[in-house]
Amino acid sequence: MRLRRKPWIDTAIHDFDEFVFSKDAPASAAQCGHWAEVFGRTAPLFVELGTGKGDFICQLAAREPEANFIGIEAQQDILYQAARKIQEQGLRNVRLLVFDINQIDEIFAPEEVAGFYINFCDPWPKKRHAKRRLTNRTFLQRYRRLLQPGGKLCFKTDNRPLFDFSLEEFAAEELGIAELSYDLHAENCPENIETEYERKFSGFGEKINRCVVTFPRG
Ligand SMILES: C[S@@+](CC[C@H](N)C(=O)[O-])C[C@H]1O[C@@H](n2cnc3c(N)ncnc32)[C@H](O)[C@@H]1O
Repeated sequence: MRLRRKPWIDTAIHDFDEFVFSKDAPASAAQCGHWAEVFGRTAPLFVELGTGKGDFICQLAAREPEANFIGIEAQQDILYQAARKIQEQGLRNVRLLVFDINQIDEIFAPEEVAGFYINFCDPWPKKRHAKRRLTNRTFLQRYRRLLQPGGKLCFKTDNRPLFDFSLEEFAAEELGIAELSYDLHAENCPENIETEYERKFSGFGEKINRCVVTFPRG
């Protein structure tokens, strides 16, 4: 997802400094291992990778007020839209980071995260780009280190080749599959929270794949 660059957002994003770590006020190693202090309370920490415009994290955070949530998104202009929603809804349990997921080890300490959400990540269809897929085994090894024992990864995509690739990577890492669906919307799943991409692609008739991956104790 690419938006036309809006330079005014570089200033406007600071309206949300209370809960957004932006490009020029970035999250840093100082927060690593100290997210409970940033939130002002100890609570399970869930992280969405590639948050986009924020519908998912807002609804989830509203539904689970007892948990802390962090949304990570590389594009500040997109994250700005998520920030507006958080403020409009008065959510106190969400922080947003303009950050590159490739550097994720710099901002979380081992076992700091209770669960990851990856929704409709870029599929990187070319084989030579497989290492960039967020469900590639090298990413899984990094998530494993950051997850608490019993931690989970919830993954959704409309892209079946990416889903099949991901299941192979989960198996290669000997991870468990707690839930699996190749057509989520055909099932009775009232607790599902639709993302912006999910609405768009299911609207085109694409099937939505979903799985919940469990990380056994190391
Ligand atoms: C296809 S969109 C999906 C957005 C949202 N999760 C949804 O389901 O509607 C993928 C998002 O991941 C972000 N993204 C991709 N690679 C990233 C990276 N390395 N670090 C942070 N964000 C990234 C993109 O900017 C984009 O907003």
